[in-house]
Amino acid sequence: MNFAELKIILRRLFKFYVREHIPKLIIALILSFAVAGGTAAIAWLLDPAIKKIFVERDNTMLFLIPAAIVAAFSIKGLSLYFARSITIKVGHEICRKLGIEMTSSVLSSDTHTLESKHSGKYISHFIYDINMIYSLASNGVLNLMKDSLTLTILISLMFYQNWKLACFALIMMPLAAIVAKSLGRRVGKVTTQSAEVTGNLSTFLSEILKGSRMIKIYQQEKFEFGRSKEILKLLMQKQIKMGLVMIRATPIMEVLTGIIIAGFIYYTGLMVSTGEIEINSFFSFLTAMMLAYQPIRSLATIHMLFYQGGAAAKRVFAVIDTKPNIREMENLPDLKISNANIEYKDVNFAYPKTLEAAIKNINFSIEGGSTTAFVGHSGAGKSTIINLLPRFYDPNNGNVFIDKQNISEVTLSSLRKNISLVSQDIILFDDTVRANIAYANLNATDEEIISACEHAAASEFIENLPQNYETNIGENGIKLSGGQKQRISIARAILKDSPIILLDEATSSLDADSEEKVQNAIMNLTKNKTTLVIAHRLSTVMKAKKIIVLNKGQVVDMGNHGDLLKSSKIYKNLYDKQLSTN
Ligand SMILES: Nc1ncnc2c1ncn2[C@@H]1O[C@H](COP(=O)(O)OP(=O)(O)O)[C@@H](O)[C@H]1O
Ligand SMILES: [Mg+2]
Repeated sequence: MNFAELKIILRRLFKFYVREHIPKLIIALILSFAVAGGTAAIAWLLDPAIKKIFVERDNTMLFLIPAAIVAAFSIKGLSLYFARSITIKVGHEICRKLGIEMTSSVLSSDTHTLESKHSGKYISHFIYDINMIYSLASNGVLNLMKDSLTLTILISLMFYQNWKLACFALIMMPLAAIVAKSLGRRVGKVTTQSAEVTGNLSTFLSEILKGSRMIKIYQQEKFEFGRSKEILKLLMQKQIKMGLVMIRATPIMEVLTGIIIAGFIYYTGLMVSTGEIEINSFFSFLTAMMLAYQPIRSLATIHMLFYQGGAAAKRVFAVIDTKPNIREMENLPDLKISNANIEYKDVNFAYPKTLEAAIKNINFSIEGGSTTAFVGHSGAGKSTIINLLPRFYDPNNGNVFIDKQNISEVTLSSLRKNISLVSQDIILFDDTVRANIAYANLNATDEEIISACEHAAASEFIENLPQNYETNIGENGIKLSGGQKQRISIARAILKDSPIILLDEATSSLDADSEEKVQNAIMNLTKNKTTLVIAHRLSTVMKAKKIIVLNKGQVVDMGNHGDLLKSSKIYKNLYDKQLSTN
């Protein structure tokens, strides 16, 4: 990241996240003045202290000056505390706002966008990157104010005590600046690498946690352990590198300070002997110079905080800026369902970054209220066709109509409100049974939920769970059997009560006993609804009013079971080999 890029990012951070906190930051600025004043007062007080107490032996001053020193330290300490407490709050508020915007962007992102990056990477944006931005917004901003003010006032004091010495002491400033400049860019680069490794770590962790059973059965603990060691080693290396770059300024600064102080003592020694400077001024000046060391060091490294935070903000902004292609357009009418007829016209679709289209020239129409089955070999494009209906993806060419309305010309919310999806991959949340079912309708009454479960043949087993509907089902329903999970997902779809139902191999992973129950549940779910079903089971397919046979992304035959057995070679083949064995 170069300086121009950093400037753009910082400007954006300021404009949209920091600016609203300006009143609080002004208070922090005023407090920073107090910190700077307190620090300088400590140095300044040594001048009268030495002169009045040690040289002139003034008894009143013997009490007043120590009291003033206590006061100066107290002002410095309290102001610093309050200034910090302000920037801590501001920093976290900025992070919260960024977090909210990232979440909002993730929630509205296209399926494709989300699937092209591992979830672990997203998690790292929320944890690692946000933390970097916090350091910038909190420590970076406060140190910049406090240290530059402190330094300015200390330098003024040095000039007040003796301008010649002050000029001499200032030689170190440009030297420090040169050292600092080269380190900033490097630290930004290392932060980016470190963020990447952190993303890999969270990716890895989420996989070994989700895949724990596979790891056990394939006995890959050693392999995964080895991988973890690799990633942790890489992370350690990057973190050490970052830590080392961050402190690289320190020894250079120390040596510079030593040289300056040595030269300074030599030079003042000459001045004292010619009577050009008094001993009290000398001590006061020396203290100011020593006190200036901390803000100089801090300012020399502060740009690293800015580069680190800037690099992190760049990644966070990239997430926030991802604009979905499939989104709610303004001024579109709502979808109005009359019969829920569906029509696909010349639909072509290729997944992004793939060579061949997944489906080609798809044309068919479905009568509302009836069931249509899609059959074909695995990879024929069945799921793809179904996924275009709720606009998880948009076709590259062609259009999809529901009741003669183009689905891309109605609001997304009205479209998705009318569609339920039950698929082979059941998605359940780590929450209670009730919450998982009520996800379809957060305002559903208990009666509605229970009725949905009865129709889904789920109420019986739910009532046998330890806390019935209030039982927590664990991450993705880990505490339930496959058939139970599927019936909960069907209950959810029944509760949604939408006119269009999509079933993507909803029963394919079930045993015979569960399957029968789930089949009954599906019968209840799909009664009088426009249903698009992908099924391996012959019984389901045979009942469909229309069967669409797909091969390599194209519709090859259409008809009912009896017709297709006679007319379609592929269907006959599927029937013989696949459907009948199930
Ligand atoms: N997310 C995806 N990204 C890229 N290609 C995909 C994706 N999903 C499916 N495909 C490809 O699209 C084709 C059709 O897949 P799909 O519709 O899932 O088939 P089916 O459901 O009939 O088994 C396959 O060749 C598959 O490899
Ligand atoms: Mg499929």
